[in-house]
Amino acid sequence: MFKSDGSLIFASSFADYTMKSIPRDIILTTERLRLRAADLSDVDLVWDVSRFDGFNDGMTWEPPNSKEEIVAITERNMADWESGVDYIFTVEIKNDGASIGRVGLLKKKAPGIWNIGFWIHPKYWNRGFATEAARAILDFGFQRIEAVKITTDHATWNQQSEMVIRKLGFKYVGENPRGFIKNGQPVLVLEYDFSKQV
Ligand SMILES: CC(C)(COP(=O)(O)OP(=O)(O)OC[C@H]1O[C@@H](n2cnc3c(N)ncnc32)[C@H](O)[C@@H]1OP(=O)(O)O)[C@@H](O)C(=O)NCCC(=O)NCCS
Repeated sequence: MFKSDGSLIFASSFADYTMKSIPRDIILTTERLRLRAADLSDVDLVWDVSRFDGFNDGMTWEPPNSKEEIVAITERNMADWESGVDYIFTVEIKNDGASIGRVGLLKKKAPGIWNIGFWIHPKYWNRGFATEAARAILDFGFQRIEAVKITTDHATWNQQSEMVIRKLGFKYVGENPRGFIKNGQPVLVLEYDFSKQV
C-alpha cells in the first residue's frame, strides 16, 4: 500500500528509531529504470495519474483536489525523507527520462520493519516496471537502511498488485478486514512480508 498522506504524519513520531538518513541525491538503477528521491518536479505526474478513474482505489491516499495539495504533500514527503522515516523514490525510464511512477518504504513502529508501496502510470502498466522498481527498493531497504522485514498488502480485488507482490517473493501472512478506509468503508486486504535473507 502506498502510504503518502495521513500515515506519514503518524510515522514521523518514530523518527527516533532511525539510525541515519540517506542523502537525497542517491540514485538507484536497474536494467531499465532509474530511481531518484521524489520531489516537486513530480507534481504533474501525480496530478495526471490521480485523474485516472479508479487509480487511487487500492491506495490509502485520495486523488488530490489541486496541484497545490500535491505540493504540500510532496513537501511533507521530502521532510520525512530527511527525518529517515519515509523514502519515496520517483521511477524514471533510463533511456528517455520519462517519470512513470513511485515506489517507497515507510518506517513502521517496530525497529527494522518497513512497508513498501508502489504505483505506476497506467500508460506504462504490464511491462514489469513496478516489479523491477520494487526489487531495487527491497535491496535498498535491506542493504542501506537496515530493514530486517518489509511488509505490504493489497485490496483483495487488486490482482495487478497481488501479481507484483507474489513475483517479488513476498510471503502471505493473512487477512486484515480493516486494511485501510475507502469512501468511509474498511477495505479487506491480504497482508505479506519479506524478511532479510541471511
Ligand atoms: C499495481 C501496479 C503498480 C502494477 O504496475 P505494473 O508496472 O503494471 O506491474 P508489473 O508489470 O510489474 O506486473 C503486473 C502483473 O500483473 C498482471 N496483471 C495485470 N492485470 C491483471 C489482472 N486483471 N489480473 C491478474 N493479473 C493481472 C500482469 O500480467 C503482470 O504479471 P506478469 O508480469 O506475470 O504478466 C499498477 O497497476 C498500479 O499503479 N496500480 C494502481 C495503484 C496501486 O494499486 N498500487 C498498489 C497498491 S497495493
